[in-house]
Amino acid sequence: MIRIDNDNSYEYSAEFFFEKDADRQELPDTVQKIFDGGFLKTQFLYLGKEGSQSSILLVGLGKDITDKIEIKEAAAKVSSVMKSYKIKQFGVNISKLYHSIGLECVRDITEGLMLGLYEERKFPETERDEYDMILTGIPEGKRKEAKLLVQETVPVIEGVIFARDMVNLPGNKLRPEDFAGEIIKFLRNTKVMVETLDFGQLKEMGMGGLVSVGESSEFPPVFVILRYINNPDCKDITALVGKGVTCDTGGYCLKPAGSMLGIKGDMAGGAAVAGAIYALAQNQVKTNVIGFIPVCENRISPGSLLPGDVITSYSGKTIEVLNTDAEGRLILADTIAYAAAKEHVTKVLDIATLTGAVVNMLGFSVAGVVTDSQEFFDEFRAAYHISGERYWRLPVYPEHEKMIQSKIADIKNMGEKYCGTITAGLFIKAFAEGLPWLHIDIAGTAWVDSPIFAYQSKGATGAGVTSIYHLCSREGGEY
Ligand code: BES
Ligand code: ZN
Ligand code: ZN
Repeated sequence: MIRIDNDNSYEYSAEFFFEKDADRQELPDTVQKIFDGGFLKTQFLYLGKEGSQSSILLVGLGKDITDKIEIKEAAAKVSSVMKSYKIKQFGVNISKLYHSIGLECVRDITEGLMLGLYEERKFPETERDEYDMILTGIPEGKRKEAKLLVQETVPVIEGVIFARDMVNLPGNKLRPEDFAGEIIKFLRNTKVMVETLDFGQLKEMGMGGLVSVGESSEFPPVFVILRYINNPDCKDITALVGKGVTCDTGGYCLKPAGSMLGIKGDMAGGAAVAGAIYALAQNQVKTNVIGFIPVCENRISPGSLLPGDVITSYSGKTIEVLNTDAEGRLILADTIAYAAAKEHVTKVLDIATLTGAVVNMLGFSVAGVVTDSQEFFDEFRAAYHISGERYWRLPVYPEHEKMIQSKIADIKNMGEKYCGTITAGLFIKAFAEGLPWLHIDIAGTAWVDSPIFAYQSKGATGAGVTSIYHLCSREGGEY
């Protein structure tokens, strides 16, 4: 729990220091010798006064602090250090951050404090501890606004934590049916209407991509639809489409053993969609979104796709499958065509751990964006500036489109050796029926083997949740 209070007399509390503060006389000499306010440096200071005892965690902010990521990191440092000492109630004096950044810092501090406590689930499962974190040092006239910011941010980060949990779960603990079940459970007490379509229904509907990939496993595919319609004055509906491959072995184009460890995280896009929709619903944002999550496994079985096969997708378009490891785009193609044809959505955002190429290009802290709509990208950019996630838009030209033309089918699922992220995006665009469309490739950012930022932990990051939330909440005119 995160609260706002003006009382600063907690047994344990955290205090931020810039380098310039640390060498001013504020701190005892002995402490100045070991704590210089360097960014993310920490030091506990014990204050034993008569009748009362308290300890202060000093947290360094470096020379200056300007960026949201740094604030989130500093806040995460506070909660993770407190957690390491099993301190479950503590104050956090944010007055220095408030004075250098303004009220918006409350959002980032809330994010950082919550994420700094994150740990992946263990087996056998244990309960997660509750923490009582109190923000102090906010001027009285601003406390109400600060409280609203905390209230808005908590469900967003619960969405991030859900996404992290799903991605971190081992493949054998999260079959397609389990993933659908977890989403249903997570959204149970919200205004989101959840519908699932089973393997039989998907076959009948002609979902050729999802059926032919899903057939590769004894654990059948399922299609999850999340309807959150909360703006009757507006006819626009945004489709949020997330790849939900609970295990991607590559199929017959089998991944090498060294690339297999991350295969359980191939549903990060689907998890991000569910997390973002949860936050929109909890905050009662006035908007219309429908989430579509095709969930399946990509394995080897007698009936699995083989390189060279041709399938017919939901749209009627035929696809030459040249690589069975490029399965994400096959299931997303069906999904987007379905969203456009049957649910009358007016724009499409899709998010997927789609290509290794994006990792080569942008690494683990920047996700790739492919879109042909400047307007949609501008909206998304405004949203990710609020969340502090990093994205980079890739170019799209006719020569890229040519790379996925097939001689024997309408399109092929693999381009040439280079620009794999762009051709993967353009493959998906071919099924968006001309609607404004924006594709996010989080193959690099959904997972970190070693954390890049202090609010991450090894494994899933929950990439995309916050930016998608802000995109959709701004549409509702909230900001
Ligand atoms: N899920 C993978 C992409 C991926 C790679 C995610 C690394 C996370 C980390 C996707 O299904 C895939 O295997 N894509 C292929 C496409 C290629 C065969 C055209 C790839 O990127 O190698
Ligand atoms: Zn694959
Ligand atoms: Zn995949």
